[in-house]
Amino acid sequence: MNKRLITGICCFFLFSAVMAQRTEVLLEKGWKFFRGDISGAAHPGYDDEQWQAVTVPHDWAIYGPFDRDNDLQKVAVTQNFEKQASVKTGRTGGLPYVGVGWYRTTFTVPARKQATLVFDGAMSEARVYINGQEACFWPFGYNSFHCDVTPYIYKDGKPNTLAVRLENKPQSSRWYPGAGLYRNVRLLTTEPVCVPVWGTQLTTPHVSDKYASVRLRTEIANAGNKHIRIVTEIISPDGKVVAAKDNTRKINHGQPFEQNFLVDAPALWSPETPRLYKASSKIYADGRLVDEYTTRFGIRSIEIVADKGFFLNGKHRKFQGVCNHHDLGPLGAAVNVAALRRQLTLLKDMGCDAIRTSHNMPAPELVELCDEMGFMMMIEPFDEWDIAKCDNGYHRYFDEWAERDMVNMLRHYRNNPSVIMWSIGNEVPTQCSAEGYKVASFLQDICHREDPTRPVTCGMDQVSCVLENGFAAMIDVPGLNYRAHRYVESYNALPQNIILGSETASTVSSRGVYKFPVEKRAGATYADHQSSGYDVEYCSWSNVPDEDFALADDYDWTIGQFVWTGFDYLGEPSPYDTDAWPSHSSVFGIIDLASLPKDRYYLYRSIWNKTANTLHVLPHWTWPGREGENTPVFVYTSYPAAELFVNGKSYGKQRKLTASESKALQGKDSLALQRRYRLMWMDVPYEPGELKVVAYDASGKPAEEKIVRTAGKPHHLELVADRTRLAADGKDLAYITVRVVDKDGNLCPSDNRLVSFSVKGAGRYRAAANGDATSLDLFHLPKMPAFSGQLTAIVQSTEQSGEIVFEAKAKGLQTGIILLSAGR
Ligand code: GAL
Repeated sequence: MNKRLITGICCFFLFSAVMAQRTEVLLEKGWKFFRGDISGAAHPGYDDEQWQAVTVPHDWAIYGPFDRDNDLQKVAVTQNFEKQASVKTGRTGGLPYVGVGWYRTTFTVPARKQATLVFDGAMSEARVYINGQEACFWPFGYNSFHCDVTPYIYKDGKPNTLAVRLENKPQSSRWYPGAGLYRNVRLLTTEPVCVPVWGTQLTTPHVSDKYASVRLRTEIANAGNKHIRIVTEIISPDGKVVAAKDNTRKINHGQPFEQNFLVDAPALWSPETPRLYKASSKIYADGRLVDEYTTRFGIRSIEIVADKGFFLNGKHRKFQGVCNHHDLGPLGAAVNVAALRRQLTLLKDMGCDAIRTSHNMPAPELVELCDEMGFMMMIEPFDEWDIAKCDNGYHRYFDEWAERDMVNMLRHYRNNPSVIMWSIGNEVPTQCSAEGYKVASFLQDICHREDPTRPVTCGMDQVSCVLENGFAAMIDVPGLNYRAHRYVESYNALPQNIILGSETASTVSSRGVYKFPVEKRAGATYADHQSSGYDVEYCSWSNVPDEDFALADDYDWTIGQFVWTGFDYLGEPSPYDTDAWPSHSSVFGIIDLASLPKDRYYLYRSIWNKTANTLHVLPHWTWPGREGENTPVFVYTSYPAAELFVNGKSYGKQRKLTASESKALQGKDSLALQRRYRLMWMDVPYEPGELKVVAYDASGKPAEEKIVRTAGKPHHLELVADRTRLAADGKDLAYITVRVVDKDGNLCPSDNRLVSFSVKGAGRYRAAANGDATSLDLFHLPKMPAFSGQLTAIVQSTEQSGEIVFEAKAKGLQTGIILLSAGR
C-alpha cells in the first residue's frame, strides 16, 4: 500500500499553477481495482494486494469479452415507433459493463488544508469512502461532482484510504456507457478561505471590435466578515496583461466578489480564431494571500435573431455540427486527450465547427480542446427526465438529482467560450405528456439562473405533441431531431421563428462496403450486416445528408445542424439491432469506429470546408466478377462539375444542379435532391482498370483530378501514422492506419486478413479497431483483422524518451514497419 502513496505533486491541472495555497493533483497512478462486490473494501485495513493494479481513467468493460448476453434487452424502442417489445442484441455494445466494481488508492493532505476530490465522471452510482467512512454519493455516471473530504481525512498527514464503489444496473442505457473511473479524479487542497470548485463566473456583457467589457464574479468560501482583496490581471492570448483591478471589500452579503474590466481591441474567439484570454486572480483575506485562481475565457458574442438566424460576433453562420457519444471506440469510455484531439482534428478538416455532447455531460478535456481548437458546443445533460426510456435509466434519480446535476454542469462549463448553447434533453418521453412543458421550464429556468448568457434548446422528435402541447413554444431555441419534412410547418407554428436541426441524418453506411443496385432505402438490411457506402440508406425515422443541406441552404431561419453522428460508437447497431448479433456498434458515423473516414466524410467536407477543395470518388474499382455489371460512380466535390473516364473512355460531364433544377426532377428521379450536392453517374459498366475523375472549376477549366485503380494481388502492409513524435508522458497516442495494398500501393479493398502487431522501445501497443460493427475481436489484443482492407492500431507512449518501433505482420504480405519517437 505504501508503494502507492502519493508523495508529491505529480501532475498539475492546467489552470492551477503550482502554488502554496492551492494544489491540484491528478490521482492517476497506483489504483487497485476489483470487479465485483465485496464487503469491507472501504476500510483502510482491507488487504487489496490481490486486486488488479490499474491507472485511472479506466474502463473496466472495454476489455470484453463481447457476448450476446451482456445486457440483453427485451424492449420496444418507442422513439423508433416500435409497438412491441423485441430482443435487442448489442444495444449497449455487447460488453460487460453491468455490475459492481471497486477502486482503491491512498493520498496525503498537508496539515491544516481543506481537501476536495473532484470526479470528472464515474460510471455509475458512485459511493466515495475516505478511511472507511462514506463521504459522498453521486448517482449520475456522466456528471462531474466534487466531494469535500476534509472531515474524513487524517489530520496528522497520514496516508488516507480512498475507496470508490460503482454499480451499473442492467438496462440502464441505450448505448455503451463504459464502466468505472473512466474520467479523471483530482485532489484539490486549499486554505479554508478559497475559491470553491467552479467558483468563478466570467461574462463579457459588451463585445465589439473596439472594446469588450469583462465581468468576473468570484465566490469566496468562508469569507465571513473578513476584508477580501482580489487582484486580477486579464492576460491576452499573446501573454500580455491588458487590464487589471485591485479591489478590497467585504462580501458578508453572500454575493460573489465582482470585478469589471475593459479590454481594448479584443481578439475575438471563433472556430476560425480560437483566441483565449485568462483572468488570473490573487485572493487575500485580511491582508494574507490565501488563494490564486485562473479562469480561462474567450471574448465573443452570440445572438439569435428571429427569422434571420444565429450570429457569432455579429456574423451570420449556421452550425455545421455533429453529435458524438463519449466513447473513443477501441479505448472505450476511458478519456484520453490525444484520442479526443485526433477526433477533433479529423472533424476540423471536414469543416465541422460544432459538437453536441449527446446525450450527456462531456469530459472537461473535450470542452478545453473545443475552446483551443475552435468548435462551438451544445452541451446536453439528459436522455431521459422523469419518464423512462430504459428501465434503470436516469428517471429513477430525476426528481431528486436533476437540479444538482444541472447546476454542476452549468457551473463547470459556463466560462468556456466554446459552449454556445445548453440542451436540456434528448427526445425525452416527457415531451408528450400534457404537463411536460413544466419540467422543461424547470430545467430551462435553472440554465437561465446559472448562466443568463446562453440560449437553451431541447432535441424534440415528437413534432405533433410539442407543437400542440406548448412544449416547443417555450424553449429558447426549438430543436428538431430529424423530421426534415416538418421544419416549415414547425417554423410557421412556433413563436421563435427559428429552427435548429438538433439531430439530423442518421444515415447508415459501412466503410468500403457498397451494395447494388444503388437505391435510396430506409431500413435496408443485408446478410453481412453492413450498410451501403453509397450513402443512400437510412433508418425509418431518419434521412440522408442532402435533405439537411437543402434545409440549411433554402431557409434563413434554419440555424444549422448536428449530424448523427461524427463517429461510430459502441452500441445501438441499427438497422441491425433486433436479434442481429454479432452487430454491436453503430454505423451512423461519418467516421468509423477505427477513426477512418467513410465516403460520407467527403460529402460533408465538400459542402462544409470552405478553405480547401474536395474531390473524392466512390466506390473502389476492384470488383472481380462484376465485369459488365452496372456499377454507379459518385463524386463528392467542392467543384461545380466533373467528368468521369473509365480506362480513358468519357462517361460525360456532370454538374451540380441548382435548387430549382433539382426540384423540377422530383417525382421523376428518386435521387433528384442528391443531384444538388453529389455528382452521380448511374450507368457505368464495371471493367477493371482505371477510374479517373477530372474536376472543373466555376469557369469550366480543369482544376484537379483523381484516379482509382483496380488493385492487383495483395503485396504488403502500408503504414501511415497520424503523428510520429509523441510526448513521453505515458498517455500520448499515435493512430497508425494499416492498409493492405498491392505492389503499386493500391488498396486491396476487400481484404480482411488478420494482422498482428508488435511495439518495441519507448511505446506500447494500446488498441486496434477495424470499423466492422460485427467484429468480436478484442481491441486490446495485438491482432485485428482488416476490414475493407484497412484498420487502425493505436500506440501509446511510455514515460521514457526514445524510439518506438511499430511492426504489423500478416500472412502472405510483406511486413510493415514504422518508426515513431517519444520525447519531453
Ligand atoms: C435518435 C436519438 C439518438 C439515436 C439516434 C439513432 O432518435 O436521439 O440517441 O438513438 O436516434 O438514429
